[in-house]
Amino acid sequence: MTEHSGVVVLGSLNMDIVLSVERIPGPGETLLAREMDTYPGGKGLNQAVAVARANAPCTMIGFLGTDDFGRSLRDVLETERIENSRVLEIKGQTTGQAFITVSQSAENSIVVVSGANINPSSLTERDLESIASARVLLAQLEIPISRVSQAARFAKSKGSTVVLNAAPATELDDDLLSNLDFLIVNEHEASIIAKENDLPKAMQKLAGKVDNLIVTLGKLGSVVFSNAIELFRTPAFEVKAVDTTGAGDTFCGAFVAAISKGETIQFAVRYATAASALAVTKQGAVPSIPTEAEVEEFLAARL
Ligand code: RIB
Repeated sequence: MTEHSGVVVLGSLNMDIVLSVERIPGPGETLLAREMDTYPGGKGLNQAVAVARANAPCTMIGFLGTDDFGRSLRDVLETERIENSRVLEIKGQTTGQAFITVSQSAENSIVVVSGANINPSSLTERDLESIASARVLLAQLEIPISRVSQAARFAKSKGSTVVLNAAPATELDDDLLSNLDFLIVNEHEASIIAKENDLPKAMQKLAGKVDNLIVTLGKLGSVVFSNAIELFRTPAFEVKAVDTTGAGDTFCGAFVAAISKGETIQFAVRYATAASALAVTKQGAVPSIPTEAEVEEFLAARL
């Protein structure tokens, strides 16, 4: 019988090139940026850092290019004490990059150049060993969905908890859905995946296809469905938003870290809500992700 512990994050690693602008440009428009910064990011890396900063052991599976961005992102994995021997470099490939505009009202738009993240190879024996020993597998969709499906099927067969953050949204087949313990999406992703513009109908449709569904609703907090029934809603915390990039990833990583420690869904959602509230108060994806101590202090002040 395998001892399950910690979290495996299967996903992307990007260097984020962030342009601070007054507002998001419209089609055909040229704007001057106030400044440009680079920050570590990528949905996979952001979620892995959120897990690690929430004090849960974390292993990452992913791909980097053989370039300076790749080397910097490897340093982040080391600094955050994320086990990274399953993050491989692909010769001649570039590391993933995301070009992000952030407006003064904290809105963003993101264009991703996938680079090494979309390496088409399937999971190796060593990847599968890491997944088999994890308590939770957490994946997103900035990598080929065939790898996500393979990992989810395998993790489920080994008794691990399988969590998919279906971002960016795409069609999900029944095989993948049937292997999920939790599907986490925002309201836009819920509508795209369910092919239903009416949000309550979209959520109900998705909730009927997975064991547990969590829909994040921005300033309105989140809603959790289990076995197709709405279980509870969690309000968001009021904070001054500076940059929302990576807030959803922080929610997912913090939620999964709490679940991997045996916490209840209610506790994990409140913890994740606080972590993502703190994340929007700072610029950048990885730099904005709070530690467990910061989240606990934030929650203690709001009892
Ligand atoms: O979810 C935010 C992330 O999306 C950014 O860090 C960027 O890299 C893109 O992947």
